Amino acid sequence: MNSAIKIDLYSDTHTVPSAAMRQAIAEAEVGDEQQEADPTTNHLQEMVANLLGKERALLLPSGTMCNVIAYRLWCNPGDEVICDKTAHTIHSETGGPAALAGAMMRIVDGTRGIFSAEELSGALRPNKRNAPKSRMLSIENTSNAGGGSVWPLQTVKAVCDAAHEANLICHMDGARLLNAVVASQTPASDYAEYLDSIWIDLSKGLGCPIGAVLAGSNDFIEEAFRLKHLLGGAMRQSGIIAAAGIYALKHNVDRLAEDHENAKRLARRLAQIPGINIDVSDVETNLVFFDTTSTGRTASEISEALRVEGVFIGAVNETRMRAVTHLNISASMVDTAADTIAKVLN
Ligand SMILES: Cc1ncc(COP(=O)(O)O)c(C=O)c1O
Repeated sequence: MNSAIKIDLYSDTHTVPSAAMRQAIAEAEVGDEQQEADPTTNHLQEMVANLLGKERALLLPSGTMCNVIAYRLWCNPGDEVICDKTAHTIHSETGGPAALAGAMMRIVDGTRGIFSAEELSGALRPNKRNAPKSRMLSIENTSNAGGGSVWPLQTVKAVCDAAHEANLICHMDGARLLNAVVASQTPASDYAEYLDSIWIDLSKGLGCPIGAVLAGSNDFIEEAFRLKHLLGGAMRQSGIIAAAGIYALKHNVDRLAEDHENAKRLARRLAQIPGINIDVSDVETNLVFFDTTSTGRTASEISEALRVEGVFIGAVNETRMRAVTHLNISASMVDTAADTIAKVLN
């Protein structure tokens, strides 16, 4: 962290590994991952496969690589992926689906990143020679730009049933799936049951420095391993990454509830600051989006003024900001951040 920043609410990607996690990394038993001979990586992969109720899982360097491998494996060039208009894959993955999978993105105008089976059906292409093929459904749980919103299990079931009925493949970007699991008290495997491919990120709320784990059938993961090589994502003694993941799955999942509490705490404080517009009930997990239009200042001006005071909150655009709670943020830091925002806006 920049030493001038005392309270970093920019993202849960800014978490730093704890002393105990570093200890687990230091003590990891390692081998050659490419030959499936890294015991710690193998163990993490088994843990995630069990967590998600899938046959097999694969450690990858990032969530972005999980998405692009899934898109590439499931789609032929020109095929369409149906997803919400806010999807991270569309806006923040450097055009990977187009560049590396040849996929077209067909957007649904969902609500807070979530859409219904009827909305999915409205996006399906007719079976015409001159139309792209609807090939895949991709949903994000929690939805990042949707505000950290949690897909209700019944909605996941309904959209995936409709998608499978139309012969589509179902994929879940689970960068923050475990936030959804903790907030909704729904087992991860209950969500995963409806998905053909699904992944979790280690480097967000779980507090690891690197990594994501993609899961699916044996055949899917076997092919994913080939693509991991192709993309240069195959590693060697990756146990030092996997050890952090194992530590996080044991120690950092239940505590996500604290991050959600802190996010609500921040939202309640923000709602009392003149000029800030926020609906506290929109905050379901660890992401807190708020509107700054009525402050008379741009979000980037506010972000800069906060930085000077040691608080880092990013501007999403000129009228909207996003604060993210995580394991390096305590309730008292949330209070200090809220006091600082009030001071800066006064
Ligand atoms: C919803 C979502 N999907 C995918 C990603 C990409 O994950 P990674 O940063 O591990 O590549 C992110 C990262 O912020 C995300 O928020």
